Amino acid sequence: MKGIILAGGHGTRLYPLTANTSKQLLPVYDKPMIYYPLSTLMLSGIREIALISTPRDLPDFQKLLGDGSQWGLKIEFIVQDYPKGLADAFILGENFIGKSKVCLILGDNIFYGNLRLTDVVNNFDGGALIFGYAVKDPERYGILEFNDQGKVKNIIEKPKNPKSRYAIPGLYYYDNRVIRLAKELKPSSRGEIEITDLNLKYLESKNLEVKILGRGVAWLDTGTSDSLEEASSFIKSVEKRQSFKIGCPEEIALRMKFIDIDMFDLLLKEMPSSDYSNYLKLVSEEIHFNKGNRERGIVNLQI
Ligand code: G1P
Repeated sequence: MKGIILAGGHGTRLYPLTANTSKQLLPVYDKPMIYYPLSTLMLSGIREIALISTPRDLPDFQKLLGDGSQWGLKIEFIVQDYPKGLADAFILGENFIGKSKVCLILGDNIFYGNLRLTDVVNNFDGGALIFGYAVKDPERYGILEFNDQGKVKNIIEKPKNPKSRYAIPGLYYYDNRVIRLAKELKPSSRGEIEITDLNLKYLESKNLEVKILGRGVAWLDTGTSDSLEEASSFIKSVEKRQSFKIGCPEEIALRMKFIDIDMFDLLLKEMPSSDYSNYLKLVSEEIHFNKGNRERGIVNLQI
């Protein structure tokens, strides 16, 4: 499966923070926002990734992420001249997707917790798979509507009077039909081809699976100054308490075995000293320690 990160748009709701940079490059506590959705794709086992952004911001993403090879990835960059809607990702990404299945993640969506995404990807055998997540402010999102048997009967984009509190997070899995279906979409009243209309097509043909994300999962969005600040506080609290960092591509690449410890140490050597690199040093020491133990025949505890 291939992955697309959509990091376009003008980020106007965060102006002036976004006057000269992309919203998805803004900090979420100690990392650029884009590291988090990238990490989510990596944790799904996805290694071929396209990033879509504006002509203004794409070069900055290229500088930050490179071609991904340092993390065992292949990252391509696709320009979106103007925001035509989320579903445009599949039209712009047609050549990149080729004959594959594809996962789309929005560049401002942050997931934390045990989503078992490698299982999701391995078990995905066609159609579309989206998630539902209970929120307090459903009118800000695409919303699921259920029938009496608890089955999804409709999806509505930002309803004024939401019929449920289940929002659809910006993480979507599709089979290859998505390219054709996206091309068939008509622009909505706000002039965009909507992901909700795409999902409705899959729902109408009974090819839509919806998984409800439970209490153990945090889904944060960063669409407003408040939610951006809340996301930063959340990441900070978890990182301080647990002494793990969330969303470090280097660490994930190592733990997912996309790169080996030698490559990891090389990346570390090239990094300036910071909290971030100090943390990665600890990761390196842990791996060397475990390797040493294994060589001495001591089994380490896996948690
Ligand atoms: C988009 C989608 C919406 C989805 C949300 C998730 O809205 O249109 O269906 O629930 O992302 O973040 P946006 O926030 O881009 O307006």
